[in-house]
Amino acid sequence: MSIPTTMKAVVVEQTGGPEVLQFQTSYPVPTPKNGELLVSNGISGVNYIDTYFRTGLYASPKPEVLGREGAGIVKAIGPNVSGFQVGDRVAWLTTGGYAEYTAVPADRTVHIPDGVSDETCMSAFLSGLTVLSFVKETYAVQKGDWVLVHAAAGGAGFLMTQILKSIGAKVIGTAGGPEKCALVKGLGADVVIDYRSEEGKKWVKKVKEATDGRGVDVVYDSVGKDTWEGSLEAVKRKGTIVWFGNASGPVPPIPLPKLSPKCVKIARPTLFGYIETREEFEFYTNELFQLLSSGELKTKVHKVYPLEEVAQAHIDLEGRKTTGKLLLKP
Ligand SMILES: NC(=O)c1ccc[n+]([C@@H]2O[C@H](COP(=O)([O-])OP(=O)(O)OC[C@H]3O[C@@H](n4cnc5c(N)ncnc54)[C@H](OP(=O)(O)O)[C@@H]3O)[C@@H](O)[C@H]2O)c1
Repeated sequence: MSIPTTMKAVVVEQTGGPEVLQFQTSYPVPTPKNGELLVSNGISGVNYIDTYFRTGLYASPKPEVLGREGAGIVKAIGPNVSGFQVGDRVAWLTTGGYAEYTAVPADRTVHIPDGVSDETCMSAFLSGLTVLSFVKETYAVQKGDWVLVHAAAGGAGFLMTQILKSIGAKVIGTAGGPEKCALVKGLGADVVIDYRSEEGKKWVKKVKEATDGRGVDVVYDSVGKDTWEGSLEAVKRKGTIVWFGNASGPVPPIPLPKLSPKCVKIARPTLFGYIETREEFEFYTNELFQLLSSGELKTKVHKVYPLEEVAQAHIDLEGRKTTGKLLLKP
């Protein structure tokens, strides 16, 4: 089938609320440049980071087609690309996923193995690579560690809880509401706290109780503004806090002396810093695909939204109405 000249895409011209997500039906199909592939996206991921680029919390050039990941079929190949052919089924990480076609750097693209569907791949791609690199490299989680995971029913949290349990860690998961908590418990979390309930607002106390007063070895905190102080209280002496997101807003600048009394280590990683080289990217994608192929890692799709309903996807995600991963059907 020949490649059309225009396509459906969601474009952001200026930063703002979900209303700035403009669904267009005659956006130009990109031409793959040097080192790039043109991918027809069967499915794309929606990630919390997309909302940061939409609001301007993270800077990016506008106008912009949002969306950091997609899966689909290679339709054309730019100059100086090796290892890919037209017709290959691939997943990619870059930008421009809220569209029918995306021109993506070949070095940010991998083949999806047979036995892993596009949808399964997208429900764990950016989120799963994040989790794998953060539990291996930001802090190397050990069997028996106590780990606190905030937003444990979310896209990243759902996968993190399972991966931590597979390492043999003891997991305390927080989540908002009884349904989300039941989901996290079902993943094998040792302790689950509904941090939005009256009782659960004292989550720091509960974490201390669960750990015999010591606190946890490591906190994975992607909620940020609303939880950072509690995370600092809940971590043990010589423990580590990994702040990796801003779901409630960014963590404010912290005076370093706050870390001294307990000799706490802090980290503020990004996935992209762990998969910069091709070798690193393949290391983590291979590990992820192995976990998905074997069925060891379960995925959960909250909903597949048609591309034109992307604003609703952002409203649901920011409204804390979702569990697992949100996907878009271009
Ligand atoms: N640094 C990196 O490289 C990297 C990579 C991937 C993801 N992340 C971060 O990881 C986090 C999870 O990403 P995701 O895409 O998987 O999203 P998600 O976890 O599916 O959604 C965010 C969740 O955060 C919780 N939350 C707490 N306070 C909130 C508030 N005030 N507003 C909205 N949500 C709130 C909600 O769960 P409850 O209702 O249970 O509280 C919500 O479902 C995000 O902060 C994202 O930026 C970072």
